[in-house]
Amino acid sequence: MAVQVISTISEMQSISEKLRLNGKSIGVVPTMGYLHEGHARLIKAAVLENDIVIVTIFVNPLQFAANEDLSSYPRNFKRDIEVVNDMGGTIVFAPSVEEMYPEGFDTTIKTGNISLKFEGVFRPTHFDGVATVVMKLFMATKPHSAYFGQKDYQQVTVLRQLIRDLRIDVFIRVLDTVRETDGLAKSSRNVYLSTVEREKATILSKALTLAIKAALQGERRRDTLNEIMKNELKSFEDIHIDYASAACAETLEEPPLFAPEGEIVFLVAVRLGKTRLIDNMVYRPGTSPEFLL
Ligand code: PAJ
Repeated sequence: MAVQVISTISEMQSISEKLRLNGKSIGVVPTMGYLHEGHARLIKAAVLENDIVIVTIFVNPLQFAANEDLSSYPRNFKRDIEVVNDMGGTIVFAPSVEEMYPEGFDTTIKTGNISLKFEGVFRPTHFDGVATVVMKLFMATKPHSAYFGQKDYQQVTVLRQLIRDLRIDVFIRVLDTVRETDGLAKSSRNVYLSTVEREKATILSKALTLAIKAALQGERRRDTLNEIMKNELKSFEDIHIDYASAACAETLEEPPLFAPEGEIVFLVAVRLGKTRLIDNMVYRPGTSPEFLL
């Protein structure tokens, strides 16, 4: 069955309300479009676990700062619909900017401490924009479950906090990062990379892998782990490191020494030419990462 495209909040709300009354489970996959395999994986998981899957496509101006890439953000709505169709999604909710933020719109969600570090240092208003739009998308689509990628690790942490703090009745599912064969995390922004930059971009996953290996060998000193990542990222002069940091996987705290049994997330953000890239990997003691098997 072909996907149904909905563009107004009121229509979306009445469809979701009816679906709920009919006992259907609803999964939502929030996206900014230009869908790739990372998004497809989320849609697929949602299709397996829900009766109805709503994919939202909305490039959210509220989460872009004035100097960021809102106007050049890649778009291909026709192809996106095909991807949702191929993955078995039911509905695409694609509102306009005016529909989401009509004249007079004056309320935003202010996220707390968890959004101040890492990405928050470089994108101070970003997570307030993400929290506000995700909340609006939840109110429009009325999901039981929502699907997000580990690729945006801090985003998931901030959204978990939002859901906890406001007691939002939505179950969060987080799926692993989908990568190219050479390790680069799939991202809509990868299209910005020149051929040479594209080759250099593999350095992010290499740096993260080295940190994971060090943790596997028992390294728990934060500064040493950070240095391992930074040294690798410095292989190319034209890579500017925004941050390369080890943190507690759950709280994002950065103790000087990690507990032996604690989970550690390694987070990196770099600028390569005009493109900003982020990536992360989680070290879970007692489990062997796939790439080391
Ligand atoms: P976007 O960047 O389009 O990503 C949509 C979802 O896909 C996010 O949950 C993101 O983490 C996930 N994703 C992106 N790349 C992935 C990959 N390589 N593997 C697995 N999942 C991946 O994130 C956003 O949009 C926005 O901030 C949004 C939540 C939609 C709010 O506007």
